[in-house]
Amino acid sequence: MLEQIRHIREEFDRELRESVDPSALEALRIKFLARKGLIARLFEQLRTVAPDEKPAVGKALNELRAYAQSAYDEAIGRKKGRSTEVRVDLSLPGRPRPVGTRHPITQTIEDLKRIFARMGFGIAYGPDIEDDYHNFTALNFPPDHPARDMQDTFFISKNVLLRTHTSPVQIRVMKSQPPPVRVIIPGRVYRNEAVSARSHVIFHQIEALSIDRNVTFSELKGTLVSFVRQLYGSSVKYKFRPTFFPFTEPSADMYISCFICNQKGCPVCKYNGWLEILGSGMVHPNVLRHGGYDPRRYSGFAFGMGIERAALLRYGIDDIRLYFENDVRFLRQF
Ligand code: PHE
Repeated sequence: MLEQIRHIREEFDRELRESVDPSALEALRIKFLARKGLIARLFEQLRTVAPDEKPAVGKALNELRAYAQSAYDEAIGRKKGRSTEVRVDLSLPGRPRPVGTRHPITQTIEDLKRIFARMGFGIAYGPDIEDDYHNFTALNFPPDHPARDMQDTFFISKNVLLRTHTSPVQIRVMKSQPPPVRVIIPGRVYRNEAVSARSHVIFHQIEALSIDRNVTFSELKGTLVSFVRQLYGSSVKYKFRPTFFPFTEPSADMYISCFICNQKGCPVCKYNGWLEILGSGMVHPNVLRHGGYDPRRYSGFAFGMGIERAALLRYGIDDIRLYFENDVRFLRQF
């Protein structure tokens, strides 16, 4: 009997060494340790052992069972431990983290900044929350003049409002530095308008201001023509039309040929072949004065354009509301 116990122990050891995976270990457990396994059967045979041998055989059997059980337990633990280690495979490529894309408005602003930087323009910013003075008065809007109605304004209090254009930053820039000035001013603007495919209560503008001695209208024109050629291609056609702004005199709107329909007529150009893209003009002497500059010594030009519209023309986006809804199906396309 003792001989048999030793044999089974050797067999157990050998098979344990060969059990490399969990299913082999399970087979080992069933063969040796289960209720009808080899060790249990040895216990059954204990009844047939001669009484004087019983204590020694019983002791050896108990030892075998304890030994096999703990060897098995240890092996299971090791296998489990090892299998979790195996799950960390350092040779695998990393998990890609999705990186967002830039909003089409941001991309357009970046492109405009690059174009104007090449033409020598720096960048200036001003607050979205403005006062009446910077947004209107300093820009030569007389009190109670109907020009104030050109832009439906969100008022916060009597004299505080959400800026209706980026032009107030012209005044802030002039007040903060002596001439010459050559900056662009990107930013958000707000108007109390019904939201539709073509207009929104919030949109973006980019303003330009260039002031020095002897700045002329032809310099304004040359700058704008160079700019639209860089943004829309050298074959773009353009025209200027006189218009009115309180803060520029003379003033001109710039139009470019509709490249969406090649001037054949389409909904974007309202079937007339031309797209209005910006307002411009020579800085009004009163505006220079409000900025602290002497209009007898300095002159300048300014222009302002809507960025949503410029982006619309580049990407063919037909509804301005899409820009502000943060729908990832829209944003992922840029
Ligand atoms: N501020 C004007 C607008 O919002 C645009 C403009 C800027 C016109 C500068 C002339 C000069 O429509």
